[in-house]
Amino acid sequence: MTATPHMTAHQSAHQSAHLKAHRLSVAPMMDWTDRHCRVFHRLLAPEAMLFSEMVTADAIIHGDRDRLLMGHHTDQGDPVALQLGGSDPQKLAQAITLAAPYRYSEYNLNVGCPSDRVQSGRFGACLMAEPELVRDCMTAMITAAGDTPVTVKCRIGIDDMDPETGLDTFVETVARSGVRQFIIHARKAWLNGLSPKENRTIPPLDYDRVMRLRDKFRGLDISINGGINEREQAVALEQKFSGVMIGRAAYQTPYLLAQMSAAIYGHDVADRFAVAMAMADYADARHAEGVRLIAITRHMLGLMNGLPGAKAWRRALSEEARGEDADGEVIRAATSRLQDSLTSTENAA
Ligand SMILES: Cc1cc2nc3c(=O)[nH]c(=O)nc-3n(C[C@H](O)[C@H](O)[C@H](O)COP(=O)(O)O)c2cc1C
Repeated sequence: MTATPHMTAHQSAHQSAHLKAHRLSVAPMMDWTDRHCRVFHRLLAPEAMLFSEMVTADAIIHGDRDRLLMGHHTDQGDPVALQLGGSDPQKLAQAITLAAPYRYSEYNLNVGCPSDRVQSGRFGACLMAEPELVRDCMTAMITAAGDTPVTVKCRIGIDDMDPETGLDTFVETVARSGVRQFIIHARKAWLNGLSPKENRTIPPLDYDRVMRLRDKFRGLDISINGGINEREQAVALEQKFSGVMIGRAAYQTPYLLAQMSAAIYGHDVADRFAVAMAMADYADARHAEGVRLIAITRHMLGLMNGLPGAKAWRRALSEEARGEDADGEVIRAATSRLQDSLTSTENAA
């Protein structure tokens, strides 16, 4: 989002905080980036923008909103973006109005997800072929969202769409709604024949295409996503774009997320033992509400990767966390054991 002369000082401060958060974001990932996962990621990346899993406009309108949307503000700290799925402008606007009390920091429209279920509902990546419809969705969302920023996440194209003219036309048309921020997953989605998982690996990554988009639309904020799995790479791309969005690498190797956050925002790398202990306290609080420990620890399994003893820690958090009675103590005990074994190895050396 680019500051304009019409903004109040309050609005432009709000925008620059939002842009700062977007320098590093954790991608929306179904079944993965749920509220427990976001609490964990917040400890690793205190200033980054964290995305929810996609929630469809219909689910928000007809479903159990507290279950779908709750929790983020008290537990996860700002900023968290709510990703919406849908293609009906009125429903998307209604979903935003209904979601407002949950105070997300941003609303994002999913124009990148290739699954069959999503295509039959006419949303996700297939919408790249309908830029005018996406523009109308964004116009309705921006009106409903008031001061809250609205963004788009898309691919560089779909199927046999020309990745040069197709993407330019898409972005140019959608930007007429007033949306200023695009997050581009730097590969096409191939809608026939590939599973969603294959669609995240087989279509080749093309960062240069996203670079040309950035050069052509200098007034827009373009973030890049896809295949970023090293700290130096994240730092280098963050300098070229408005931000980097990290998906699988952040989830599977959480400590890398902490390292990326430290490098991009210039703070100390989060101490992973302290993070584990904080999650133990969080798990106790959720346990008292009936949340199973495994629902929390399943997101943390990669935290100690690379340390000797990581395997035993991981095993404790996956196996001992399954029982109904298991609480934060499982995390505390496993973490202390790991710390003790590291200290005794150091002393022996
Ligand atoms: C398990 C999983 C679930 C995903 N769910 C969503 C989703 O709900 N919405 C979305 O826009 N993208 C979704 N994605 C795609 C990611 O947001 C991201 O664009 C993609 O994984 C590429 O980034 P990466 O290479 O850093 O993982 C999902 C990816 C994974 C691995």
